[in-house]
Amino acid sequence: MTTFNPLRLDGRHILVTGASSGIGRRTAVMLHALGARLSVVDRDEAGLVSLGAELSAGEAVAQHVADLSDIAGIEALVGRCVDAGGRLHGVVHCAGIQAIVPVRTLQIDGWRRIFAVNTEAALMLGKCLSSRKVYAGQHGAIVFISSVMGTVGSVGAVAYSMSKAALDGMARSLSLELASRGIRVNCIAPGFVRTPLFEQTERLWDEETKRAVEDLHPLGFGEAEDVAHAVAFLVADTGRWITGSTLVVDGGYLAR
Ligand code: NAI
Repeated sequence: MTTFNPLRLDGRHILVTGASSGIGRRTAVMLHALGARLSVVDRDEAGLVSLGAELSAGEAVAQHVADLSDIAGIEALVGRCVDAGGRLHGVVHCAGIQAIVPVRTLQIDGWRRIFAVNTEAALMLGKCLSSRKVYAGQHGAIVFISSVMGTVGSVGAVAYSMSKAALDGMARSLSLELASRGIRVNCIAPGFVRTPLFEQTERLWDEETKRAVEDLHPLGFGEAEDVAHAVAFLVADTGRWITGSTLVVDGGYLAR
């Protein structure tokens, strides 16, 4: 007797960006464990190679090294994913960057790069999935990793907050456009999650600041797996009546 598991993703082909590290990597591992075929994308080739070794999955995981700040190059990248693994059922955009920079020293190039990777790449990936040549035609699901910083402010995070608030708004409109094709579009807004990106920020804090930030999370800091669970829920049929929403996964950060 097979056990019923509504999270199963057998036969579905999902593109996961940012898969070399942190949330993207745990998401790739989770979706693969649930039976999905994966196309994993990152600019960090070594990270993709070590993910491939972790999954030891042969043809079920196709690796694509790409810099997603090259927005115009994303269409060709998605084409390569389809050529290698067949048409796609879903996209999970986890690649993202941040920089804690006071607004007086923030440079135009700096905020445009954050916006390109976090927001414009997400839009282009969604646009690509809407194409008949790319979309497998059923079980369509897009998940963008946003942040609580799209809702609340933080000193030094203007560019990052801008990118994530815009991402939430873009996803709502995209969900309305793609609903008739059966493609759902949702965001996940994590609080602070222990990943290399988080460690980059944590290095700027003394012990007192670190305790204060952790205290803002009634359940403590999160792990990448906590976000990966939420991604799986939204991608699988468990999320089939959910679109245009931002699921907050933050250990209670926004509850105050
Ligand atoms: P991470 O730094 O561990 O992983 C990000 C991955 O994206 C890396 O593998 C990196 O190589 C890849 N990447 C970055 N820029 C890229 C580009 N231009 N082209 C291709 N790949 C690129 O970061 P983490 O923490 O896993 O973050 C994932 C997402 O979660 C990001 O969108 C981040 O904003 C969001 N997030 C993270 C939080 C945290 O506390 N860690 C909190 C809230 C949101």
